Parts: sequence; C-alpha cells; structure tokens
Amino acid sequence: MTGANDTERSKIICGVLDNIDEGIIALDAEGRITLFNPAAQMFTGISEKQALHRPVEELFPEQPDLVKLVRTGIKSGRSISDHGEFLLRRPATAPLPVSLAVSPIYRNSGERDGVVLILHDLSRIKELEKTLRRRDRLSMLGVLAAGLAHEIKNPLGGIKGAAQLLDRELAEDSGLKDFTRVMIREAERVNGIIEELMDLARPRPARMEEVQIARVLNDVVLFQREAFRKKKVDFLLDLDPSIPPLLGDPDHLTQLFVNLLKNAAEAVNENGRIEVVCRICHDFNYSKAGTLPAPVIVVEVKDNGPGIATEEIERIFTPFYSTKAKGSGLGLTICQKIAEEHGALLNVVSHPAKGTTFSFSIPFLRPKPQNEKKKPFEPADNEATSLPKKEKP
Ligand SMILES: Nc1ncnc2c1ncn2[C@@H]1O[C@H](COP(=O)(O)OP(=O)(O)O)[C@@H](O)[C@H]1O
Ligand SMILES: [Mg+2]
Repeated sequence: MTGANDTERSKIICGVLDNIDEGIIALDAEGRITLFNPAAQMFTGISEKQALHRPVEELFPEQPDLVKLVRTGIKSGRSISDHGEFLLRRPATAPLPVSLAVSPIYRNSGERDGVVLILHDLSRIKELEKTLRRRDRLSMLGVLAAGLAHEIKNPLGGIKGAAQLLDRELAEDSGLKDFTRVMIREAERVNGIIEELMDLARPRPARMEEVQIARVLNDVVLFQREAFRKKKVDFLLDLDPSIPPLLGDPDHLTQLFVNLLKNAAEAVNENGRIEVVCRICHDFNYSKAGTLPAPVIVVEVKDNGPGIATEEIERIFTPFYSTKAKGSGLGLTICQKIAEEHGALLNVVSHPAKGTTFSFSIPFLRPKPQNEKKKPFEPADNEATSLPKKEKP
C-alpha cells in the first residue's frame, strides 16, 4: 500500500470513529486507554483528554465487570461479548444500559496489541420495550374492561331503574326513601367507575398522519432483532426505496408489525429466518368513488417456522386463542383491528413444516391538496375496493 493510500485510509477510519454510534475504546496491552471516540465520551461523560493513557481500573473504578471483561480480553487474546444489559454509571446522569464487546487488536506483523472495547447503547430499545409492554397490558385490559362493562352495565341500569321506580312510589315522608337514594347514588357511582376504567383502558382512536412505512419497519426489525438475539433469529428487511409516505397511525402500525414479528420469532426454531418485504403491488388498485385509483402497499412477514395447521388457521384471529403457555391470544386480534382502522387487509398463508406468511395490504392514499378541506381518513368500504380477497389456506 502506498503512503498516499495510507493517509487516505487513516482519514476514513478517523471519520468512521468520529461518527459511529457505538462507543469505541482502544486499550494497549497494559490496559491503558489509547483511543476514546466521541460516542464513548458521550456514553461515559468522560472527555478524551481525561481518558487517554489512563489504566482502565482508574477510569472506571465503579465498574468492576467492565474492567474484568477488558482484562480477560487482554489476557486471553479472544473476542468476548456480553449481550446482556450492562449499566454504565456516569457522573450527574442516569446510568446508561449498554452491551459490551471486547476484541483483540493485531498488528500487521501478527503481534497482539491490546484490545478494543465496543459499547452499544441499549436505551432506545429499552424505551421501546417499556412502551410496548405498557401498550400490550392496556390492550388486554381494554378487552377485559369492555367485556366486564357489557356484563355489569346492563344489570346495573336495571337496578338503578328499579330503585328510581321504587323511590317514586314511596311517600315523600317515608323513612325508606333514604335507602332508595343510596341505591341510586351507588349505582351511578359504580357506573362512573366502569366508564372511567373503559376510558383508561380503551386504546386511543387512530390518529392518521403521513407515515414513512420504511422507518416504522426499520425500528420494529431493530427492536425484535435485539429481543431475539439469544435465539439467533435472522431478520432480513427488504424495502422498496420508492415507497411513498402513506396515511396511517405510526404507533398503531408499529404495534401491528411488532405483533407479527414477535409471533414469527416465537414460532421459528433457533437460527430461524424471518423476512420482512415491503413493496408496491401494481396488480391491485384501491379505488373509491370520487378518488383516483391508488396502488396498494404490501408488507409481508415470512417465517420458516412450523406453520399453522389448516384447521387452526381460522381460529388464530379469535380473541384469547393461543397455543402458547404464556400467550394472551390477543396479538392477532389487535392486528386485525389496526388493519381495519387503516382500511387494510391482513392475510395469512401457511404451509405446515415450511412456514407462514402474513401479508398486510394497505391502500396508498395521496394526501389532500392544500386548498381542500381535510377530512379524516375513512377506511375502505369493501365493495369499492379491488384488494385481494382473503386467501384460503
Ligand atoms: N407466525 C406464526 N407461526 C405459527 N403460528 C402462529 C404464527 N403467528 C400466530 N400463530 C398462532 O396464532 C396464535 C395466536 O397468536 P396471537 O393472537 O398473537 O396470540 P399469542 O401470541 O399470545 O399466542 C398463536 O398462539 C399461534 O398458535
Ligand atoms: Mg402474539
């Protein structure tokens, strides 16, 4: 390699180290810091000047696990990664969840020259996890609350009505009136509690806005890849770059794809493969009276899991239907509901022993021109669509 090429290469490497999202810390064979990139400075709250040439123990006195990992890496000359969550303590700010990996550095001559420690920020993934757990719980509560409300509200109305009748029949000076009033008041109170519970638990109505579906899918794949890292599930994402923004609720769509990917990842064996493909389907057009025909965007989630038996396939969208020991059986019910509110279709094709493909087909609606009064997004009515009909397994 020529000198000029070497300089060029160094420049590129420096650029990469300065811009990469991972914290990169290089240490020599004595465990002294030789490189501390900007992301590492941001994660640790320690400047490059403070860090350089100091031994790892001195720089991270409160992180014995990190020090041990580095020392083991230096001693053994092997790559070690700890995918579990490691809490990086920092001055003045909350600890940062990171994953750690150590790799040996070799010179051109083949001699070992210390190690590189890589810190990967897990906070965004943790954040997503938290939101999703909460949403899952809320959706479950929503179905329970709706069921309960239905069971309780009607008889409660009857009790209140009967108490009111009784109250009217009683003479004004009757001592029993105190009891009928308590009955009416208490029935109203219970009704209020149920309504409050329903408000709290019922998922909020969809808020339609322009959504970059590629961004949603990227985030969901990123999160699920992390969640199923131990199972070594291989996630592939194949996006058509020409896909235009569509009208949808980004949070609801995220939830839908998380449910589909999670089901796929739970279905496959170790080292299983999940493919997410998003493309414009020109074979079908969405058309509604008064609007131009619009193409359909299709997202497919394919897995190479055990598949679903033909007799089971109709049941999987039923609330509480689950074949998992700890499954809620609500994931696909929620997906179906979200698809409906988007005027989209959710189909499934499964070949036992080969795998399952869920496909979500959503019409691409152009945003209204500026001078036209904006109307809320209306779901497609079935007669007006030429979307693919639900495929029979
Ligand atoms: N990709 C898939 N491969 C095989 N079976 C699936 C797949 N997706 C869903 N299922 C089946 O559908 C059932 C219902 O799924 P879901 O509504 O998400 O509930 P849960 O995941 O809590 O069981 C699952 O228990 C499983 O039997
Ligand atoms: Mg599920």
